[in-house]
Amino acid sequence: MDLDDELCLCFHVTKRKVVNYLRIERPRSASQLSDCHGAGTGCGWCRNYLKKLFEASRAANTGEADLPTAADYAQQRASYIRSGGGTPPAGATPIE
Ligand code: FES
Repeated sequence: MDLDDELCLCFHVTKRKVVNYLRIERPRSASQLSDCHGAGTGCGWCRNYLKKLFEASRAANTGEADLPTAADYAQQRASYIRSGGGTPPAGATPIE
């Protein structure tokens, strides 16, 4: 996943926004990433990835984490939503 790919497809929050939020705001818990443009507060798909980035930022102060490609990520989210994992809000990136 590149920095300009959307990490939260519900609220169009890019990985770059999350990494910068982690670097600048230094949240104390992963759940505080919801203050970054609502990341993670829609269908819930991205929460595990937000947590990975949060943990990576604490461990190495880099904000890097092993994330799938943007296409794989979107496909996995679509499967998650289709299986009843969450409901995207209006305006979210649609599932394919
Ligand atoms: S992709 Fe982030 S809440 Fe749905």
